[in-house]
Amino acid sequence: MTEKATQGRLEISDLSITYRKPRSDEVFTAVEGVSLTIEKGSFVTIVGSSGCGKSTLLLAMAGLIPKASGAIALDGQEVTKPGPDRAMVFQDASLLPWRTVHGNVRFALELQRWKRDDIDERAMRYVRMVGLGAFADYHPHQLSGGMRQRVNIARALCVDPDVLLMDEPFGALDAQTREVMCDELLRIWERDKKTAIFVTHAIDEAIFLGDRVVVMGRNPGHIRDVIEIDLPRPRTNAMLDSPAFVDYRRRLREYIAADLAALQMVEAIV
Ligand SMILES: Nc1ncnc2c1ncn2[C@@H]1O[C@H](COP(=O)(O)OP(=O)(O)O)[C@@H](O)[C@H]1O
Ligand SMILES: [Mg+2]
Repeated sequence: MTEKATQGRLEISDLSITYRKPRSDEVFTAVEGVSLTIEKGSFVTIVGSSGCGKSTLLLAMAGLIPKASGAIALDGQEVTKPGPDRAMVFQDASLLPWRTVHGNVRFALELQRWKRDDIDERAMRYVRMVGLGAFADYHPHQLSGGMRQRVNIARALCVDPDVLLMDEPFGALDAQTREVMCDELLRIWERDKKTAIFVTHAIDEAIFLGDRVVVMGRNPGHIRDVIEIDLPRPRTNAMLDSPAFVDYRRRLREYIAADLAALQMVEAIV
């Protein structure tokens, strides 16, 4: 397989997704009327309270769950199933415990029948890219949570996807490790600018990483706002205290506060 020119423009139009409620014929609408265009090479973050359909939206982009109505097109092609043009990173690094760091990254290439003679070298290149060169021969149980997530990211990137879909990938990590991982993710992303879609609970993370922050609301899941983050790149930690950053943070917190207030009202009624 040869390197391909980077594509990765996603166009979501009027998308709705339903689930069947467990043990019944009732249908539950998880996402309704979502329209969003994500330009090739841009970094979009998604925030919103738990249950508002963030994971559902990502799974649909991955082609892992069916659409009830609407469309998702990747470079003009309708998304109907998973494909090598999209890679997904979940919160829990589902690594193969019997394989080493290098072996786990290599596995992603084996699955895609990557050409044999450069497979080891390519896997190693991505292991180094995520800063694990010295740990290539370690097994998952010998790694910290942050290191395991680095392997996960290396595994997603090594197959050269056009779109990187990340569902709270740093959600299980401590605050300090998260910060380091965000810096590294951006450093890697700046190199080849894959289209990146990143779901997070953390407002600062969403602002720090994103070109745009998509704010979702619930009942049913929908897009409430899309906030353009007009901060220069590369992003630095010093920006976290800049007036612009503080203002984005305030705006996003207002949405979350409104969500909480609405939730408390519902609880007061029932
Ligand atoms: N497989 C499923 N079957 C039925 N309902 C589901 C399923 N997955 C998610 N849901 C429901 O859809 C809604 C959105 O879920 P999800 O996308 O996981 O939200 P988020 O990631 O924002 O927390 C929730 O109400 C959840 O209970
Ligand atoms: Mg989720």
